[in-house]
Amino acid sequence: MSTKLIKVKHGGNLYQAAQCYNIPIEQWLDLSTGINPRPWQPVEIPQHIWQRLPEEDDNLLAVAKDYYQTQSLLAVAGSQEAIQRLPTLRAKGKVGIVSPCYAEHEYCWRKAGHEVIPIAFDDVELYLSQLDVLIVINPNNPDTRLIAPDMLRQWHQVLQARQGWLVVDEAFMDATPDFSLLNQAIPDGMIILRSIGKFFGLAGIRLGFVAANKAVLKPLSEQLNPWHISHPARWVGALALADTQWHEDTRYYLPRQREILQACLAQAGFDASFATAHFVFIKHPNSALLQHQLAEQGIWVRLFPQLEALRFGLAEDITRLSNCLQK
Ligand SMILES: Cc1ncc(COP(=O)(O)O)c(C=O)c1O
Repeated sequence: MSTKLIKVKHGGNLYQAAQCYNIPIEQWLDLSTGINPRPWQPVEIPQHIWQRLPEEDDNLLAVAKDYYQTQSLLAVAGSQEAIQRLPTLRAKGKVGIVSPCYAEHEYCWRKAGHEVIPIAFDDVELYLSQLDVLIVINPNNPDTRLIAPDMLRQWHQVLQARQGWLVVDEAFMDATPDFSLLNQAIPDGMIILRSIGKFFGLAGIRLGFVAANKAVLKPLSEQLNPWHISHPARWVGALALADTQWHEDTRYYLPRQREILQACLAQAGFDASFATAHFVFIKHPNSALLQHQLAEQGIWVRLFPQLEALRFGLAEDITRLSNCLQK
C-alpha cells in the first residue's frame, strides 16, 4: 500500500507567522526552534572568503576532527543533506525509526522507496532483528528522550550481525557530550550525524558532519556536488569549532536558560519536566489553541498537533512569555 508523501513542516517559519497574525517580523519572540539564541559570533568575513571558491583541503575537517574526536568524518551542508542522501546508499529495506521524532528521516527514507516502520522506544527490541536500518535521534526532538550510549551500542550489534545500520542523529548532542557515540571508535554500520545549527546557533550557514566508516563516507561523498558547502560556511564553521572557551561557556549557558524557561512554564501550571539543553516539550490538551493565543501576543512556539504538544525553544529574555502566561 502506498501512502502519499507530505512535505515536512518545520519551526522557524517566522515570515509565515508574521503574515498570518499581521505582526511585523521584528516584533516576534521566536521560540519555535531549538537553535541557541546566543550564537557563536563570527568576526568580519574577509573579502577573499566571499570571492574564492571553497576548497575541501582547507582547515575545516582538521578542526572538526578535533572537536568531534574522530578521524572518520565528512562535512555536509547541514545534517539535513546527509538525511536526504543516506537512504539512496542502501538497497530498499526495512527501516525502523524511533518515533515520534524529526520527521525528515521518515520522509526521506520513504521517498527513496524503503519500508518505514515508526517504532515506540519501548518496542525497539521487538523489531530489531527484522530491521535493515534503525534511526534514533539522541537526544530526541521533540520529546527530549536521551538514550544511554550503551543501549545504542547493543542495538547496533544486533543490526550489524545482518549488515544493518544504526543511524544516530546527534543534532542536539553538543551540550551533553558524555552521551555521544563519538566517545568510542566508530564500528562498521554506525552512522552519527552532527549539526552546526543548534549548539553553535549557526543554522543559516548550513553546515553539519557525518561520522562513519569509509564504506559509508566514500559513496556519500561521491554523491555530493562540488562546492556544496559555501566558503563563508567553511570559514565560520572552522572558527566556531576551534573556540573551546566558547564551547565551555555555552555548555554552562544553555542549561541555565533552559532552567529559566522551565521555571516560567511550571509557574504557569505546565509539566515542564521534559527538556533538553535546547528546548522544553509540554503536553497540553489544547495545544493548538495555546499556540494561537501565544501567537496573538507575538510569541511563536512549535505545535505538534498529533502529539497534542508544544515545543518551547530558548531565548535570551523570556519576560514577555512570563507576562503573557501570567495573564
Ligand atoms: C533532530 C534534527 N536533526 C537534524 C536537523 C537538521 O539540521 P541541520 O541540517 O541544520 O544540521 C534538525 C533540524 O531541525 C533536527 O531537528
